[in-house]
Amino acid sequence: MAASASPCVKKSVLAIRIVLFFLFLSFGIDAHPLKICKFDQIYQLGDSISDTGNLIREVPIGASTAFARLPYGETFFKNPTGRCSDGLLMIDYIAMAAGVPLLPPYKNVEADFSFGVNFAVAGSTALPSEVLAAKHIFSPVTDSSFNIQLDWMSTHFNSICLNHRECVEKLQNALFMVGEIGGNDYNYAIFQGKTMEELISMVPEVVNAIMNGVRKAISFGATRMVVPGNFPIGCLPIYKTAFQTNISTAYDENQCLKQLNEFAMYHNELLKEGIDKLKQESPNVVIVYGDYYSAYKFLLKYAKSYGKSRYADMNKAVDPHITLFETQKACCGIGGKYNFNMTRMCGAPGVPVCKDPHRYVSWDGVHLTQNGYKIMAGWLVQDIFGKLLCLF
Ligand SMILES: *[C@@H]1O[C@H](CO)[C@@H](O)[C@H](O)[C@H]1NC(C)=O
Ligand SMILES: *[C@@H]1O[C@H](CO)[C@@H](O)[C@H](O)[C@H]1NC(C)=O
Repeated sequence: MAASASPCVKKSVLAIRIVLFFLFLSFGIDAHPLKICKFDQIYQLGDSISDTGNLIREVPIGASTAFARLPYGETFFKNPTGRCSDGLLMIDYIAMAAGVPLLPPYKNVEADFSFGVNFAVAGSTALPSEVLAAKHIFSPVTDSSFNIQLDWMSTHFNSICLNHRECVEKLQNALFMVGEIGGNDYNYAIFQGKTMEELISMVPEVVNAIMNGVRKAISFGATRMVVPGNFPIGCLPIYKTAFQTNISTAYDENQCLKQLNEFAMYHNELLKEGIDKLKQESPNVVIVYGDYYSAYKFLLKYAKSYGKSRYADMNKAVDPHITLFETQKACCGIGGKYNFNMTRMCGAPGVPVCKDPHRYVSWDGVHLTQNGYKIMAGWLVQDIFGKLLCLF
């Protein structure tokens, strides 16, 4: 009986998933497919890709960083929140899709943490600052590396749970976003003169640090988690400016630097292997790889096709220089082929901001615009939704 019934059950589950997928395709992120998961809390660890206000509350540097000033935040909040963009981040769109309030930063002592906490700190690294320092890599913005964020998480859970059992119960329907983290370890290394070989040799250690963070979250009772990988960093204006070359074969079809993208893929491959290992260690925990790399590639494809179709011809008739989606230049920045200069970055005096950030993929040469993150998050939500196994 059971043997003949189970393929039937499987078939109908598959059918439900297919129907949901098409529902999502037709309604986009507003259909909130993640609501089916009934997440009641989200916890985020990471760096500037997901910081919603921790760095700017840190003493002594935080409040004096550009992220604490306009034009950061100009589009959505109309004031700086500490998000490294003109508006919302991927984690904001993920929270909205899940039907959970936007995550407050841990450093905001007045915040309501009943729907989760954001521990991410812009500039943070996967490896502790001391470990990087021993490699002569200096972490310039914050000492709140991943291990410190994990300590904050422990302190937080110890404050809301009386014992382990209570935590397990409380976190039953929580979503954990562990990363993206590690991108800065490589950023700092490469911009402080390390070679590609040295970067490659750091990857296992960085991935190990991320895996230990996942283990720590599981030890508190996490049951569903997303572990995002790195962006195709060879597509970002900061890298394209620093490693600009006349060798045309150094670029791919999107004008991204191939070698840097291959490096990001290498990190992501090792991270995926690490996730497989973690799944074997904890078979009852759902651990999903967050494919930021493919989400960004989708964004580029979307931007290109959007530029070609829709209003492109109409606008070109008015002004031949109008492209509807700018994938190369940063919106906020100055100079060079990519509107980026490391010594005069967005937020510095006299650095101009584009009038139409929604047309740009890159906000400041390092981080994306709200619109860029929105499109990436839309792709990501539909990618992780099935893998989170919320329908079982
Ligand atoms: C690229 O080539 C031009 C002209 O040959 C030269 O002036 C320029 O310095 C080169 N740029 C780089 C980054 O090698
Ligand atoms: C970046 O800005 C500095 C300071 O204004 C300037 O000296 C330098 O030439 C600029 N670099 C590029 C590549 O434009």
